[in-house]
Amino acid sequence: MTTSITPSVNLALQNTQSCNSELQQGPWLLDLPEMPDTYGPGASQSDLIPAQTPRQQVLPERYQRASDEELHEKIRAAKATLGDRVVILGHFYQRDEVIQHADFVGDSFQLARAAKTKPQAEAIVFCGVHFMAETADLLSTAEQSVILPNLAAGCSMADMADLDSVEDCWEQLTAIYGDETIIPVTYMNSSAALKGFVGEHGGIVCTSSNARAVLEWAFERGQRVLFFPDQHLGRNTAKAMGISLDQMPLWNPNKPLGGNTVAELENAKVLLWHGFCSVHKRFSVAQIDKARAEFPDVHVIVHPESPMAVVDAADSSGSTDFIVKAIQAAPAGSTFAIGTEINLVQRLAAQYPQHTIFCLDPVICPCSTMYRIHPGYLAWVLEELVAGNVINQISVSQAVASPARVALERMLSVVPSTKKA
Ligand code: 13P
Ligand code: SF4
Repeated sequence: MTTSITPSVNLALQNTQSCNSELQQGPWLLDLPEMPDTYGPGASQSDLIPAQTPRQQVLPERYQRASDEELHEKIRAAKATLGDRVVILGHFYQRDEVIQHADFVGDSFQLARAAKTKPQAEAIVFCGVHFMAETADLLSTAEQSVILPNLAAGCSMADMADLDSVEDCWEQLTAIYGDETIIPVTYMNSSAALKGFVGEHGGIVCTSSNARAVLEWAFERGQRVLFFPDQHLGRNTAKAMGISLDQMPLWNPNKPLGGNTVAELENAKVLLWHGFCSVHKRFSVAQIDKARAEFPDVHVIVHPESPMAVVDAADSSGSTDFIVKAIQAAPAGSTFAIGTEINLVQRLAAQYPQHTIFCLDPVICPCSTMYRIHPGYLAWVLEELVAGNVINQISVSQAVASPARVALERMLSVVPSTKKA
């Protein structure tokens, strides 16, 4: 297990073994019309991309050929020319080479709100993934354009639930439950179309920091909850609320009744969609045991997208913001084993040299969709803005935006839970 402090995952990839040697290459090698059916190198490389997911056009060659320093210079120059007309947002999981140019760095919800604090910015360049850019579009003004530098930066978990499959599930459930009220709850990591669906059906959005408070809100209004797309966040949260595992059947959208019997569904309180995050799925109890053996006073913190056994074996679990705050608040000399995306873990290790901080997973395997945003794409969209062109705009249709905002506003009205997820 390595405890060395490395300032950037991309620099570390030059010398360290990773889950895929292609991670050293520019992601533009994936910008091909005949692109493979998967997300490319990184933790979700074996997840299938749904057919309707946007594809990125080939990045112009001048950006592919530019050196790192040339790209940074292009970005700095374009930002200086645009001034307050642009705001760049960077998610915690984004590579440091992009983060260094961000005006705000945070979790998906903090960043969506950050966009609101800069109403004078005509363009919000979102260095994160597709659902985050959609949420920023929902929460920003009509005059602002939200730009995703690489359109293929989706989220494999969000893509595991689509509107057609959720509507089909809903029809089957309402046929079984009759007059009883089912509350649909969607994790922030979902398309705007699904946020619109829950808004229209009395439901609500949650994040990993407020999932428990949101489920409590839902149970004040209905007898059962349909939770999508992340089974792990749903299971970990419902279990912490005292709901038994046999009352949380998994809904597999490819099977009739989601793969359940009518009796199992009648016994259900929380129906968990068959979605997961391939980054957090990599964490295991064996990794936690190894960390504890090597560092007896280690504090293990994992993200609640991790499997239940991992959350149970950890000392605490919480959102990316929870993890950052726990490290900020710890006394100097603390040791942390973290179960979340490697870019955030490596950055925290570099920012807090007074602690020992390492990732539970010994293999470097970043989120393969975050990986799609490279400084080359950032330079490209910014230089196009300087030239007066808005490219790679993410725009949620009015029909979807109205109910999706209702679902987000319901979430904002809920007091966040500070308890263990
Ligand atoms: P946050 O909502 O904490 O930003 O996490 C997003 C995510 O994709 C976690 O895998
Ligand atoms: Fe999606 Fe997982 Fe990447 Fe988060 S880490 S953006 S859930 S694939």
